[in-house]
Amino acid sequence: MLIKTDALTRLYGSQRSVDSVSMHIDEGDIYGLIGRNGAGKTTLMRLLVGTARTNGGSVSFGGDLTPSSIGSLIENPGLFGGETARENLLRYMVAFGHEKPDVAEADRLLRLVNLDPASKKKAKQFSLGMKQRLGIAIALIGNPKLLILDEPVNGLDPIGMREIREIVVSLNREGISFLISSHLLDELSKIATKYGIMDGGKLLEETPAGDLSRKCENAYRVARSALPADMGALAEIERLSDGDFTYFFPADGDENAKAAIASLTSGESEAVRTPISIEEYFSMKVGGKSE
Ligand SMILES: Nc1ncnc2c1ncn2[C@@H]1O[C@H](COP(=O)(O)OP(=O)(O)OP(=O)(O)O)[C@@H](O)[C@H]1O
Ligand SMILES: [Mg+2]
Repeated sequence: MLIKTDALTRLYGSQRSVDSVSMHIDEGDIYGLIGRNGAGKTTLMRLLVGTARTNGGSVSFGGDLTPSSIGSLIENPGLFGGETARENLLRYMVAFGHEKPDVAEADRLLRLVNLDPASKKKAKQFSLGMKQRLGIAIALIGNPKLLILDEPVNGLDPIGMREIREIVVSLNREGISFLISSHLLDELSKIATKYGIMDGGKLLEETPAGDLSRKCENAYRVARSALPADMGALAEIERLSDGDFTYFFPADGDENAKAAIASLTSGESEAVRTPISIEEYFSMKVGGKSE
């Protein structure tokens, strides 16, 4: 376990921006935090690194992890526009105080994010993708075990997104765990090993990626108009609705649930196995409301 929160809560006025969130980040995870604008992703991340105060609940860190040994790119990285990538990194090494400015180390970090250490280009001339990658290099100062990246691919073109994705995967292979937020599920689904679905400040679901894919594969669709008034055993089965249809998600190996679904066999009420995408699952889960 790297991070575990228990009923973590942050209020802004009377609004519960983070509402009783209990999340678990384990070693090796690429934890995809998904949620629409205003869901509370950034606030949750800020609570984890201690740049926002909590109003309730707690955060525990596993092993030797502490808030200061987490690397993060949550707000704009705050680059020095008139300086090169290497000069920016050297400045941050001093600013973070836990490392002497070390050119060899700065260059190592720049290579990890595919930036040319010897480049004379100033940060203000960087593309958005280069700025993001420099931000990640800054977050890597001090060899963190966990990197928290808030919407790292926001605004990037497909090639820029792929570059970030490849960097994340290769750092993960070296043993760095990640918490990454995004509202681009398709992008996140290429790398996430676990998902946390957030909406209205709440963590609605936390699931290993493989389990969620299997669940979506095994969805059964029924016309809503054909559902019996008394749901009986069906009421026990996880279900989500989307317009005219209800989808049932029987747990793996739950034969009773499967039998209950199979009992919906007469004509139009027939349950049809209909694999859905994670994107569809997510949009049903958060119910199409928008802030
Ligand atoms: N400093 C603040 N003061 C007042 N309200 C805030 C503050 N920070 C966040 N909020 C509110 O908390 C809610 C959650 O915001 P947050 O930025 O965490 O969402 P988000 O999921 O990161 O959204 P986005 O996808 O737009 O980045 C929003 O309604 C926001 O207005
Ligand atoms: Mg945000």
